[in-house]
Amino acid sequence: MNEKQRLESQQSNAVNPSDKKSAKDYSKYFERVITAPSLKEAKKRGKEEVKYHHDFSIPEKFRGMGEGRKFYIRTYGCQMNEHDTEVMSGIFMALGYEPTDRTEDANVILLNTCAIRENAENKVFGELGHLKALKMEKPDLLLGVCGCMSQEESVVNKILKMYQHVDMIFGTHNIHRLPYILHEAYMSKEMVVEVWSKEGDVIENLPKVRRGNIKAWVNIMYGCDKFCTYCIVPYTRGKERSRRPEEIIQEVRQLAAQGYKEITLLGQNVNAYGKDFEDMKYGLGDLMDELRKIDIPRIRFTTSHPRDFDDHLIEVLAKGGNLMDHIHLPVQSGSTEILKIMARKYTREQYLELVRKIKAAIPDVALTTDIIVGYPNETEEQFEETLSLYREVGFESAYTFIYSPREGTPAAKMEDNVPMEVKKARLQRLNDLVNELSAKALKQYEGQIVEVLVDGESKNNPDVLAGYTTKNKLVNFTGPKSAIGKIVKVKITEAKTWSLNGEMVEELEPAEVK
Ligand code: 5AD
Ligand code: SF4
Repeated sequence: MNEKQRLESQQSNAVNPSDKKSAKDYSKYFERVITAPSLKEAKKRGKEEVKYHHDFSIPEKFRGMGEGRKFYIRTYGCQMNEHDTEVMSGIFMALGYEPTDRTEDANVILLNTCAIRENAENKVFGELGHLKALKMEKPDLLLGVCGCMSQEESVVNKILKMYQHVDMIFGTHNIHRLPYILHEAYMSKEMVVEVWSKEGDVIENLPKVRRGNIKAWVNIMYGCDKFCTYCIVPYTRGKERSRRPEEIIQEVRQLAAQGYKEITLLGQNVNAYGKDFEDMKYGLGDLMDELRKIDIPRIRFTTSHPRDFDDHLIEVLAKGGNLMDHIHLPVQSGSTEILKIMARKYTREQYLELVRKIKAAIPDVALTTDIIVGYPNETEEQFEETLSLYREVGFESAYTFIYSPREGTPAAKMEDNVPMEVKKARLQRLNDLVNELSAKALKQYEGQIVEVLVDGESKNNPDVLAGYTTKNKLVNFTGPKSAIGKIVKVKITEAKTWSLNGEMVEELEPAEVK
């Protein structure tokens, strides 16, 4: 086929927005794909081997699909979702779409959702309500829901019933199917639902459009097999599947060559990395030990589970260099009894012992954590154990949450005798402690010189620059715009509760940046 014929065939295969109106004429040529999620399926963990695919490509007939069209993705929730949005943006761009940051200009809008707590879900339903007016105004607009909420049976049923202006719902395991789903949505008058509940595969060569050119996320594993009793993630993200080390190492090397200064390794439970390899014994410690040799200034990872945090990893992290001296180590509760009901599989004492080991190996480490208050039947004494553990560890900051029942999880079936006012009061007391220790940790920086990777202008003041220290402390400081993207030395002039103010003293020489 010559170039002219190829372009003509591409044109004739491309789908126009107006095709949707004549879907009846076309629908018989296309197999309808309606696969709804099943909680029962999502719960299962089989022994099937993980399959790795390297054959992702955009089929010829879809290549012109995005010509003259714009996409908009709104992302809710964690870094994993942010990174999935980068992958979906990559697929949109490969289809010829252009990005836009205005919903009014978009031809396709996706909400990449989070299911971790009820208020995260309510935000999405609210947004779907708002978008109805836009959809009425522009019937050719495609509106899609993806991410963790779309993996929930109850959510899909609610959208089918109450948000019929949605055109497509697809799951976290179906991202690579985006070209087909879009195509289907253009052709069909019905809502397209494609949510696989069980996935054992890793798709390697998906395109990505990264949000910036300073920091990058790198997936090291997908899914979670821990099944903490409150958590929906093992159902929405499937079983643990690790990427092969050589793929990760190659991706990090490429990012280093492209000039990225920091990478964050991502996984729901990064400490379980490698447990699913059948052909070798290889864990997060081994991976970090190889990655630290790559010429990139900063490497972080998130998020950790204390249970799988082994001695080898501690030993490797203690080597320092480009491995950052900050560890986010969610504890969830300071009470052994509550930890047991949460199925965290460690006790208060075991957690404290792990912290002791980490501090012995990395004396200056900054520890942060996640905590849930108001677990079903949590007593005042049990809550106070959380406060005392927080002080004992000396966390530098924390994400704190009121327990939110998630349909289908074991905790959602537990009776709960803790009134909401009590939960709110506990959260307040915990937050007071979190603020107190955060302010105390930051106070020590006053007068000191720290290394800051400069992200850009500060959110509130374009005349001020902002960046993060190795311990992940936000620093707002005065300095030249040429410092953006570099690691610079900043003298701290003032500590606030959550951030530091300072002034730049000098740029680091490349040789100083390991
Ligand atoms: N309710 C409240 N917080 C939750 N988290 C996870 N599930 C729930 C829930 N059902 C919190 C945990 C986890 C963080 C990402 O979100 O603290 O570490
Ligand atoms: Fe949820 Fe627990 Fe898995 Fe973290 S380790 S994603 S809290 S089930």
